[in-house]
Amino acid sequence: MFEALAEAKPDAILGLTEAFKKDSNPDKINLSVGVYKDSSGVTPIFRAVKEAEKRLIQDEKTKGYLAINGSEEYGRAVQTLLFGEGHEILSFGRGATAHTPGGTGGLRVASDFIVRMFPGKKIWISDPTWANHPNIFSAAGLEIETYPYFDPSNNGLDFSSMIAALRRIPSGDVVLLHGCCHNPTGIDPTLDQWKEIGDVVEEKGLLPLVDFAYQGLADGLKDDAAGFLNLCRPGQEMLVASSFSKNFGLYNERVGALTLVGADSESANKAMGHIKTVIRCNYSNPPFHGAGIVTTVLNDPALYKDWDSEVAEMRARINGMRKLFVETLAAKGVGRDFSFITGQRGMFSFSGLTKDQVERLKNEYAIYIVGSGRINVAGMTESNMDRLCEAIKSVL
Ligand code: LMR
Repeated sequence: MFEALAEAKPDAILGLTEAFKKDSNPDKINLSVGVYKDSSGVTPIFRAVKEAEKRLIQDEKTKGYLAINGSEEYGRAVQTLLFGEGHEILSFGRGATAHTPGGTGGLRVASDFIVRMFPGKKIWISDPTWANHPNIFSAAGLEIETYPYFDPSNNGLDFSSMIAALRRIPSGDVVLLHGCCHNPTGIDPTLDQWKEIGDVVEEKGLLPLVDFAYQGLADGLKDDAAGFLNLCRPGQEMLVASSFSKNFGLYNERVGALTLVGADSESANKAMGHIKTVIRCNYSNPPFHGAGIVTTVLNDPALYKDWDSEVAEMRARINGMRKLFVETLAAKGVGRDFSFITGQRGMFSFSGLTKDQVERLKNEYAIYIVGSGRINVAGMTESNMDRLCEAIKSVL
């Protein structure tokens, strides 16, 4: 039976890393998947993570199953990071969190929950969005619609089209919003625009699903939550899929969460019961280690402080690379103005390179970037910058 199968299409992002690994060019550069590299090109393990791991190994007494939705301690720590200490969602117990394998796991659980409990509701996603969003939602059986987001004429947010489209979404449908560092464009709404989005969501009775995978990579851990907090209004329901892959560097531990916010604590608990049903027939219950690390760091003031400073170092290096990228292109005499890249936030630069140019970078220079022209700035280093910019100049 397997012999008769057609070849599967490689994944738009992770498939490139597979191809990169097979590439024998010694000067190859992988700027596809959103993984942070330090100035020497290594994806480091955070100091706070190493310390938390030591404590976990020392103190661990059992390998018994976690609850279907993970530990309560982890859930509380996740909610405090998302909404902030003392937020009414926490004090009224309106939030309920399931620990999921990565943010992707959180998105899939959310999709299964929506399909099962609210059949016929559609999900509205930004155009463009993370290449894996449509895969996840359609695999769960959700019908997908898009709303406009990016304006190529000024490399900015097309807010008037976006908000007009959101106003036309039928009540009860789900709208996917990126919490910060929009993937792939790196362009986020301003706080005023977030407020307007919150008004439309409330007036129209939409269910926001916030994908929050990059908290801390734009302006800071607290500042990056300020936008989506405009959606957190009394009685407003919401789903948030969050991830610790990037801001803790815990990529291979697959640690994330799905947090639901109910109108009150009773309905939140009821909804969590259905989320648990969805999880039980998928992966049963989550793996402990990554969540153990995150809980240890978030609950220890000294480790938290160290972690916060490591996230700040990461942010500063990425922003430094943005600047150097734009300067190096200009210094090489590239005529096109790439200065908009320094205004984009998070790991990615939405470069405006065409599919053909992206293909040429791969085939002629062994430089791997995503087909949409998205470049992982967090993978640039001082030593690969010259070769990268020279290659971009020649494909332009
Ligand atoms: C990305 O967009 O590169 C990351 O979110 C990693 C992934 O799983 O695609």
